[in-house]
This record gives sequence, C-alpha cells and structure tokens, in this order.
Amino acid sequence: MTAPLRIGLAGLGTVGTGVVRILQTHAGLVAARAGRPVEIVAVSARSRRRDRGVDLSAYGWEDDPVALAKRPDVDLVVEVMGGEDGPARATAQAALAGGKHFVTANKAMMARHGIALAGQAEAKSVALRFEAAVAGGIPVVKALTEGLAGNAIARVIGVLNGTCNYILTRMQAEDAPYAQVLEAAQRLGYAEADPSFDVGGIDAAQKLALLATIAFGAPVELESMTVEGIERVSLADIEHAAELGYRIKLLGVAETAGAAIEARMQPCLVPAGSPIGQLEGVTNMVILEGDFVGRIVLSGPGAGEGPTASAIVGDVIDIARGLVLPPFGQPAAGLVAAPRATAAAPAAYYLRFLLADAPGVLARVAAALGEADISINRMRQVEHDGPEAPVLIVTHHTERQPLDAALAVIAGLDVCREAPVAIRIEAL
Ligand SMILES: NC(=O)c1ccc[n+]([C@@H]2O[C@H](COP(=O)([O-])OP(=O)(O)OC[C@H]3O[C@@H](n4cnc5c(N)ncnc54)[C@H](OP(=O)(O)O)[C@@H]3O)[C@@H](O)[C@H]2O)c1
Repeated sequence: MTAPLRIGLAGLGTVGTGVVRILQTHAGLVAARAGRPVEIVAVSARSRRRDRGVDLSAYGWEDDPVALAKRPDVDLVVEVMGGEDGPARATAQAALAGGKHFVTANKAMMARHGIALAGQAEAKSVALRFEAAVAGGIPVVKALTEGLAGNAIARVIGVLNGTCNYILTRMQAEDAPYAQVLEAAQRLGYAEADPSFDVGGIDAAQKLALLATIAFGAPVELESMTVEGIERVSLADIEHAAELGYRIKLLGVAETAGAAIEARMQPCLVPAGSPIGQLEGVTNMVILEGDFVGRIVLSGPGAGEGPTASAIVGDVIDIARGLVLPPFGQPAAGLVAAPRATAAAPAAYYLRFLLADAPGVLARVAAALGEADISINRMRQVEHDGPEAPVLIVTHHTERQPLDAALAVIAGLDVCREAPVAIRIEAL
C-alpha cells in the first residue's frame, strides 16, 4: 500500500469528533476505498483538557490551528472550527500556501472567500473541498461538479436549513406560533441559542450562493441575493396556505434569466404534494435541473455530527485517491461575474388581507389589482365572527413590482385593517 494520507484536524466540536469517530471506526474500509491508509496525525481545539468522548491519545496537539496547518507531517488539513474570517481563514490560507490539501465544512468562509481560496489551491495544484458546507450529508457539490458536469444547469432549488424546516413543519403540525416553536426547538437542540443566522435565512443563503456559483460558473455573492427569513411567517398564513393546498417553506432558488442570475432565499408557498412540500423536520432537499438530465432530487440530513462528518470523510477519501478537481467545478479564474437579474421571475402570489366586512370591499381590492394588470386565480373570504374578514387571493403570474404597487394602494384603503401579506408561490 502507498504512504498514508496524514491529516491535521482543526476543530473538535460536533463535526470534528464525528470525523475522528468515522476514521477510527472505519479505518480499514477507508483505507481499502482510498487505496492507502488515512490517518489523523495531529489535532487542534481551544481547550486541550475537555473530554470529547473520543480517544485522541494517539494524536499530536497544537494550540494554534495555523501551526497545525504548517506541520511538516500533515498532508491535508480538515477545518471544522467555523467563522467567516479569523482562525478558520488563517488556517485555510496557511494550509494552501504550504501546498496542503484543505477540506472544510465552513459555509460562511467559503461563501465569502471561497473563490480566492480556490485560486490559491489551484495555484498549488492541491485540493480544496467543501461538500460538508452545503446540505450536510447530501453529496450535492459532488453531484454538480462531477455527475452533472455535462449539463447546463437552469435552476437550483433547495431547502437548505433544517432548523427553519423543523420550525415551519412543527408550527403546522402543532398549530403553534413561531415564537413558541422556536423556544421548543432551542430546548431540543435543533436551534442555536442565537438562532438569527438560521431563522434569518443567512445560513441557507450562504449554501445557495455556493451551489449557484458552481451551477452557473459565476460568482454569486450574498449581497446580490434576496434574503428573507422565517421570523414573520405567521401561523395564520401556514394554515391558510394548507387550506389552499400549499406548504410554506424557506426556499432557495437560483436560476438563470438570459445572461443574468437570480438567487433568492425566502419563505414561499409550494404545492403540498410536491417533494419539497412533503419535506418534514430537519431534512434538507436540493433539486437540480440540468438541460440534458432533467430534474434530480436529492434529500437527506443537512446537519449533525454523522452526516456532516460523512461528507468530510468522502472528500478526504477522494483526495487520498489522488483526485484534485477545481473546487467550483472549473478554474476559479474562469468564474466570470454575471449581472444580477433586474427583477424576480414572474410568479403567482398568495395574498392575505384583513378587510372591513362591508359591501363592495372585495371589488375595491380586485380593482386595485386589476389596475396593476394582476389577474386573480382564486379568491376566498375566510369564515369569521367579527367585523373584519380575512380574505385570501391567489394571483396568476405577475411581476413583483406591479404587485407591490397594488398592495400599497390596497394598504391605503380605509377598509384595509392591517398590512397585506404577499408570499411567492414557487412552481416546482
Ligand atoms: N454542526 C453541524 O451540524 C454542522 C453542519 C454543517 C456544517 N457545519 C460547520 O462545521 C463547522 C464546525 O461546526 P461544529 O458544529 O462542529 O462547531 P462546534 O461544535 O462549535 O466546534 C467548533 C470547534 O472548533 C474549535 N475552535 C474554535 N475556535 C478555535 C481556535 N481559535 N483554535 C482552535 N480550535 C478552535 C472549538 O474548540 P473547543 O471545543 O476547545 O471550544 C471546537 O472544538 C462550522 O463551520 C459549521 O458551520 C456544522
């Protein structure tokens, strides 16, 4: 057998200990598949004394992950510390500058600095892999960069944050408001103490940016995306959407519009019977649409120790086999910026109004929509007791801009009792 691949592991938290567990449990299997042993030689974390439930006694220790990356006995650095900059980025730069392969689960760093790091890796002819950074255990980066490489990709759709999907599905199942379900999710460990990154859509948007960059061969930055979280999704909208045959999901969509790219992460209605509509709990799903292959649906665990470490070890084995590919599926220098689409693609919208229950009110709402050239597909007044009536409308396809103009007019009517709600209905 050839010489072992020697790993320096930076980070011994949830994912890092998972990597240790897989490599210890499956040393023989990994060596057989890689064609050579894969060995951890040294590790780094903040606290050396903490019991992590795995045996680290055979490994060297470095307090500083950059020193770990510079060790002469390390061929490949696995970074599972996290953080967009700071030690994670310094470790990546040190590893790649030293001609070492680099594997990371760090979506924040890759979404911000991935292309620069890819350029650095390519200059040194070493691998930079980040499968674990997108959709945890689902091998979607590999699917895009390898299996689907012969296709022009038209659209990438994803439910990429398990916490959000868990919260939205529990709200519906338990008839419970957002704040109550979020608190329960935090108690159960499905949501962080500071959940803003997850529920605000940032975490999922970082993953979508990475997928879109690979899919379209153009850098897609967070700043060019529409990003909206689930904080304002109300139980009423979840229930009304269900009555109309839809589910509300935090949905990422990246698609081409001529030469431009549009990427958005926002709550959307999807048909209840569609694969994404059926997605429950923390599971992730990615749909890839290629011009020759058609539609590929991937789903599975998007986070957690085992799935994330599984993706890392998959990357490590590829590197041990000698596979060095451009990290984003083509050389970083060839990733040419595409313009941002000027407007979201037209779509149907779900609208909810709270209106005074009086003669002629619905006609005034319909007229405001009609004046903006928006036609109504379905309209329903919800049963109610008091003087105000919730009214639901599903529009035909429309641009967002005239819709917003019409909603502003309706919001100004004396019969409109609260700000109208508009949620995009995504055709899947
Ligand atoms: N958890 C998941 O399900 C999941 C899924 C996909 C991707 N990821 C990504 O994987 C990465 C790690 O996540 P995690 O959940 O494993 O995090 P975690 O449990 O918080 O672990 C982070 C580890 O990094 C170490 N660390 C932090 N700063 C360090 C420094 N300056 N020097 C050395 N070590 C340092 C910590 O050391 P101490 O233990 O001593 O504090 C800890 O062992 C993140 O980029 C995350 O976004 C995680």
